[in-house]
This record gives sequence, structure tokens and C-alpha cells, in this order.
Amino acid sequence: MPLPRESSGREKRVALARIRGKNPLTQKGGAIRLGVRTSHFRQGVIRKYREWLPEIPEAAIATIGEGDTPLIEAPRVSERIGARLFLKFEGMNPTASFKDRGMTVAMSRAVADGSRACVCASTGNTAASASAYAARAGVGCFVVVPVGKIALGKAVQVLAHGAKIVQIEGNFDAALKLSKRIAEELGNVTLVNSVNPDRIQGQKTAAFEVAEALGHLPDALALPVGNAGNITSYWKGFSEWREAGYSDSAPRMLGFQAEGASPLVAGHDFESPETVASAIRIGSPASGESALAAARESGGAIESVTDEEILAAQELLAREEGVFCEPASAAGVAGLLKLASEGRGPEGVVVSVLTGHGLKDPDVILGRARLPKPVPATFEAVAGQMERSMP
Ligand code: F0G
Repeated sequence: MPLPRESSGREKRVALARIRGKNPLTQKGGAIRLGVRTSHFRQGVIRKYREWLPEIPEAAIATIGEGDTPLIEAPRVSERIGARLFLKFEGMNPTASFKDRGMTVAMSRAVADGSRACVCASTGNTAASASAYAARAGVGCFVVVPVGKIALGKAVQVLAHGAKIVQIEGNFDAALKLSKRIAEELGNVTLVNSVNPDRIQGQKTAAFEVAEALGHLPDALALPVGNAGNITSYWKGFSEWREAGYSDSAPRMLGFQAEGASPLVAGHDFESPETVASAIRIGSPASGESALAAARESGGAIESVTDEEILAAQELLAREEGVFCEPASAAGVAGLLKLASEGRGPEGVVVSVLTGHGLKDPDVILGRARLPKPVPATFEAVAGQMERSMP
């Protein structure tokens, strides 16, 4: 075992004891302790990136340790797309989606402003995140959602955190219009959708983490696009990183919508958007203009992928990389596979953002798979079943 560089005397004694096969705890009658230290803990994005964010008084900070999510290399998918692919797994945030980064900023500022409640429209993840951060902040929370269109895990999160659910007989776009008006007219109620600039400010921190983890900016960033807040945030983050002098270039922004909900590709709103990727089932993206600007300014593009391509990418990530994301989150990888198959894929180092955890939407998996019939609890029956499906 190599000695740690610049290790203290105590650490050296512990390391030497380990090399000699002795238990360091019992050396010198237990006088030496194991060299376990807490060098790092999740302090949340506001404290980590304070100088990049709007001012928030310390006492108002509502954090559950969001951010600091892993950047995971994906060797098998890399081979297929002909570039070195990393996955920014945002499913590892406290409520299992990227929304937490913006929610901590929006909710903390709502507390600082003395809001009595917050409201949001949502396809599920914003609602789950707002519910958790409102609980943390001690602020009331109303979520307005399209009836029957929220993935099971997300609905369960809202219920668990005790937010008030308003189910409407309409889609996300109608829910957002209503939520905006409610925030304007009720007074002292903060809208925490990504049209709130504090959300964008918080979400841009993911771009900083990508830069820090790689040591440089990637050549391209691929991600799903729904209401278009996240692509706006990443582009803002990369642009600020470049303006601060940390990089000369910026990645191409490659945004992907689901074909049945692809207003930015078609050039017009969709009245009745439809896709298996319920998180991005949006027909009139609020930040559509800035998403198109991000694609244009970065030399990127906004394109669409089919539901089949999305589900195939979700399965590929789960089965070949061991990373389980929800369907919408796989749209970026689906897009990269599509571009590569047409000889238009980006080269170099590419990051795809996996925006939410696969556990959020169990029905998509259960709807396509069947559990095997039970067998008797005997060695023969269990071994027999295993032998029949041994690789
Ligand atoms: N991926 C997931 C898992 C999402 O939940 C969303 C948006 C997106 C991608 C798209 O991000 O809207 O910033 O372009 N979900 C919102 C919600 C709309 O209500 O949870 P976007």
C-alpha cells in the first residue's frame, strides 16, 4: 500500500501498520486511531458557487445537499457513437432530478422575500422538487399538474412531502398559464417554474461541475428539452465560465425533444403533445427562444427523437452502462445515437445529461416486462430456472 502523499505522522503509522498486517487500532494499546476523515460533504450549490449566484442571506438558505452529482464515463455507448461519452447523472440529486439545483435558489429567495407559499406547474419533477424544498423551507406549496400524466414516483414524492396537489383537466402548458396568473394575482406567492430566473441561476451550476470534473469544457452537450429551462441554464453556465477566462471555447448544445412534443423543431406550438417521456410532454416551451439561441450561438441544434428511440436509449444505458434514468432523460443519448447513425455525430468529449432517475417512472418498465412465474422453493427448481437462462 503506497503511503499517502504529505501524510501526517499518525497516517504514516496507520499505513505502516496496515502494510505489516497489524490492526492499527490495537497498536500501542489503542493510542493510534484509523485515519478516517470527512474531507468533503454536500454543502449544496448555493454555498459552493456563492459568487456566481444572486445574493441570498445565510439564514434564508434552504438546501438538502443538491448538486455534486457524478460524471460517469460510458465506454459502451461511446463505442456506438464514436465519441468519448460521459453521463452527468442528475438522478443523484436529493429528489432524484436536476430540478433541485434551481429549486434551492428559488426557494431560498422566496424565504428571503417573505413568501407565504410557492406554486408551480409541472410534468412531475418540478413538483417533487418544489414539495421537498418547500417542506425544508417551511413554506406552503401548491403544485398544478395535468391529471393522469404524472409518473408514479413523482406523484408519490409530492404526497410524501405534503404539498397540495391541484390536478387539472388540461396539459402542462395550461397548468403553467394558470400558475403564472395565480402567482401574480394571489400576492406573496412565488412561482417556482423555470420562468423564475432564480431557477436558471441555480441550474447553471451543473455546467460548472462538468467543467471542473473534466478539467475542461466538453466538445458537445446533449440533453432533453421540454420547457427549455435546462438548456438555457447550461448555456448560461458555459458562457459565464468562458467569460471568466477559464476556457476559450464552449460546447455545442444539442437539445432533443420527443417527436410528438417537438414545437422547437416544427417551428410551431403543439396543441396536444404526446410522448412516453411524460417529463417533456410540453407543446409550448416557455424558454423556447433562449433554447434556440443556445443552439444557434454554440453551433449546435435542436432536433427530435421518437418514443422508440428514447426507450431504446433508456434500455441501453440501464443494461450496458448500469445507469437507470427515466425515459425523458434518455433523449440526449437517443439523439447522439441517431446523429451517429446518420454520420452527423459530434466528435471528441461529449456529455449527456441524464436529468432524472429511472425509479421515478416504474410503469414504463413494468409495462414492457413480465415477472417470471414462481417456482417451488427447491434447489432443483431454482437451479433449473437459472440454467435455462444462463448467459
Ligand atoms: N428531463 C426531465 C426528467 C424533466 O423532468 C424535464 C422537465 C426535462 C428533462 C426538460 O427540462 O423543461 O428545462 O427543458 N420537467 C419539468 C417539470 C417540465 O415540470 O418537471 P426543461
